Amino acid sequence: MKERAVSRSAAGDLVVPRSVAVIMDGNGRWAKSAGLERIRGHERGIDAVRTTVTECARLGVEALVLYAFSEENWQRPQREIDLLFGLLKRFLVEERDTLMQNRVRLLHVGRRQRLAPDVLERLDAAVALTANNAGMRLGLAIAYGGRQELVDGVQRIAAAVRAGRLEPAAIDEATVRAHLYHPELPDPDLLIRTAGEQRISNFLLWQTSYAEFHACAKCWPEFGAAELHEAFRDYGRRTRKFGKVP
Ligand code: FPP
Repeated sequence: MKERAVSRSAAGDLVVPRSVAVIMDGNGRWAKSAGLERIRGHERGIDAVRTTVTECARLGVEALVLYAFSEENWQRPQREIDLLFGLLKRFLVEERDTLMQNRVRLLHVGRRQRLAPDVLERLDAAVALTANNAGMRLGLAIAYGGRQELVDGVQRIAAAVRAGRLEPAAIDEATVRAHLYHPELPDPDLLIRTAGEQRISNFLLWQTSYAEFHACAKCWPEFGAAELHEAFRDYGRRTRKFGKVP
């Protein structure tokens, strides 16, 4: 509903969603098709992350959430997990200037329990560094699962009931929202998934109830400003009814 048209000079007639979420898929496939190791795909994926973050910030997106590592991804080979977290740690240091220059405020969306101390340290440092930035909020979903987020929220709600701070009959949608990891983040208006897949894969299950879905055929390392603009153009053609009669 809350969206703004951007002038032709900025990027064509784009309708810029207030909130965008991305399932960055196809790093492995891209690497394989180029005859490279899977990790090279993840490495190239960082360039696509940088482009997407800076372009979304430039166009005035208020919140962007990127699915970088799911709770299910812990089942990948340990070597790939280690390499992915190595890249993530590098990203959290090397991209600081990009985040600051674009006034991006970083947030971690996900569980902290299984993250290594050195990952947490860099994550917390980047979150703290960017905490006063007033521009786009960037949620990095790391060790994230939509079901796990709801389980964690339900546990906290149950604890509040047991402590006598909450009546079961008073639990409503606002209560559940308030117990998500970042209740302040607006629900995604647009959910983009690359590599042609059309699955939600346990991403932002509560928040994507009314998100418009855009499947991009290209793999994540090939995703650039042109593909982002195409997603926004596609979004601009949708009629959003939210279950009502328009
Ligand atoms: C999916 O591709 C991608 C991931 C599981 C990881 C995403 C990570 C990055 C883009 C790089 C690091 C990110 C940040 C924010 C520093 P896949 O491996 O499932 O690809 P496939 O389906 O083709 O095998």
